[in-house]
Amino acid sequence: MTAASKPNVLPTPDGVQSSIRMDDVSLVYKSGRGNVEALADLSLDLKEGEFLSVLGPSGCGKSTILKILSGLLPVTKGKVLIDGAELKGPRGDIGIVFQQPTLLAWQTNLQNVLMPVRASKRPTASDRERALKLLELVGLEEFANHYPYELSGGMQQRVGIARGLINDPRVLLMDEPFAALDAMSRETMTTELQQIWMATNRSVVFITHSIPEAVFLSNRVVTLSGRPGRVVDDLTIDLPFPRTIDTMSTQPFNEYCHHLRALFQAKEKRQQP
Ligand SMILES: Nc1ncnc2c1ncn2[C@@H]1O[C@H](COP(=O)(O)OP(=O)(O)OP(=O)(O)O)[C@@H](O)[C@H]1O
Ligand SMILES: [Mg+2]
Repeated sequence: MTAASKPNVLPTPDGVQSSIRMDDVSLVYKSGRGNVEALADLSLDLKEGEFLSVLGPSGCGKSTILKILSGLLPVTKGKVLIDGAELKGPRGDIGIVFQQPTLLAWQTNLQNVLMPVRASKRPTASDRERALKLLELVGLEEFANHYPYELSGGMQQRVGIARGLINDPRVLLMDEPFAALDAMSRETMTTELQQIWMATNRSVVFITHSIPEAVFLSNRVVTLSGRPGRVVDDLTIDLPFPRTIDTMSTQPFNEYCHHLRALFQAKEKRQQP
């Protein structure tokens, strides 16, 4: 991607150091039922401002990657580096958006957006101002003092995105954030997320099962093998931003989708007896 093709953001100089890096990471879940090797020797890097999608079969370790990057799950082997420093635990500058919005029903939408701030301190007037700005960014300024039950699923997920951005994170981790939405809301949210990303200039790691969604949103799409997850394909999506509904009917867009579908089909064929 060239800087010119992505307006409203600072250009990333060529050859810039990766801001987030997983180096030969393996992750083994240990439980009474035995060990599960979720990731094996996985290396991944994310550059400043990049939108990276991760695709892969169910159970290959995608959510595990996000748990590791959020600092909640220590790796079994390998290293995670953020700006060259090893990740040792949860950090305030990493935002997370889950598959379900997981909002607190007894708190207003504004209070929900402020939740990560409240985990460490009493929100100040400028925190509240920032939360209101983020609600405006996701189109919900009128609903700041409403409660989550008064919102649709898509609107609740937008509150979840605003909450993920409240600490001005250097990276936003999103685990299938639109999986629970109907097809129409999902399409709208995809376009909105692109606008939010362009306006905020944050790096995003986005987990999805949808190939067109990944191609539409991303600078790069990484495909993982079945468990234990390893990178089997790392595809740069060289389409100008902003992408629109028309982008989806272009030949390059369909070629990217075709390339990714072929990876999954090849795998299914190999598994046939
Ligand atoms: N806490 C845990 N204890 C034991 N095994 C686990 C645990 N969490 C995940 N696993 C196993 O690790 C593997 C990877 O899980 P993960 O949730 O990362 O997959 P995923 O790629 O996100 O799958 P999906 O696409 O279905 O969400 C799976 O085989 C899963 O059963
Ligand atoms: Mg998952």
